[in-house]
Amino acid sequence: MSKQFKRTLITSALPYANGPVHIGHLAGVYVPADIYARYLRLKGEEVLFIGGSDEHGVPITIRARKEGVTPQDIVDRYHQLIKKSFEEFGITFDIYSRTTSDIHKKTASDFFRKLYDDGKFIEQESEQYYDEEARQFLADRYITGTCPHCGNENAYGDQCEQCGTSLSPTDLINPKSTLSGSVPVMRPTKHWYLPLDQHEAWLRQWILEDHKEWKANVYGQCKSWLDLGLQPRAVSRDLDWGVPVPVEGAEGKVLYVWFDAPIGYISNTKELLPNDWEKWWKDEDTKLVHFIGKDNIVFHCIVFPAMLKAEGSFILPENVPANEFLNLENDKISTSRNWAV
Ligand code: MF3
Ligand code: ZN
Repeated sequence: MSKQFKRTLITSALPYANGPVHIGHLAGVYVPADIYARYLRLKGEEVLFIGGSDEHGVPITIRARKEGVTPQDIVDRYHQLIKKSFEEFGITFDIYSRTTSDIHKKTASDFFRKLYDDGKFIEQESEQYYDEEARQFLADRYITGTCPHCGNENAYGDQCEQCGTSLSPTDLINPKSTLSGSVPVMRPTKHWYLPLDQHEAWLRQWILEDHKEWKANVYGQCKSWLDLGLQPRAVSRDLDWGVPVPVEGAEGKVLYVWFDAPIGYISNTKELLPNDWEKWWKDEDTKLVHFIGKDNIVFHCIVFPAMLKAEGSFILPENVPANEFLNLENDKISTSRNWAV
């Protein structure tokens, strides 16, 4: 028999605050989550529905640079816009907050620090591209060069948009920094890694044995990740936009956006219920359900649960309903077309 829960905590993926929400997001994530929340409320159940904007990460800094404004200007603009769209659409969040809030920065910072103090990370030095003129390390997207596969001269350090190949910056021929135009040099830099390989055994049991009822696309993606073998993943970046890494000697480093963003679900719950949030996150009688799009599966089914487990006092999601892309008139809906709401 399936477990009876006392309450349901529903989260919906925090959209990046660097563009409007479009119909695909609504149809795939927010409308299903909203229907579920409304259904449970109608049944008289105790339910909380958490939303918010994801306001860190490299694309926001790139957009700000292009427009000649600060990243904060960008996220202020889009957070308001997205929040208003959701209101006008009638999505019934109990809270819609943001990852640049003080409470979030503190929550994410403390979360990292707890894992750090408990020895749950590994520290590793690696060589990364550095711009000597701009005096900063370069995120993959800040490097362009020639694609080794198709010869496109404007490929990015993470992907060639002409042939679609994923790249790493060292694959590029004649790499160039988009910040100063100079030729980047390799420099050692230290980062913290979540050793997902050490979490593989319990994740296999928890997903593949205990959650066979998850949707086939979600289960299937998890299985292929697990079958490939998990690797340690960096949870920090050399960047000046984000939550500073709360460790001495980590100046100029911030938490990786995919480390801080899901903690946003926790911070937003805290912001709403400062004295009562823990029962929603730490009581086994709470059913936690993450509504997401298909690109977010690995983060919600593998990375975030590993973070929660490593922290030690949190519950894990009971289900992670993820939708595939929405097709309209046989075309995949993507942000590049004009489906903004
Ligand atoms: N911003 C991400 C995206 O749009 C989703 C973040 S979900 C969260 O793909 F868990 F990180 F909050
Ligand atoms: Zn290419």
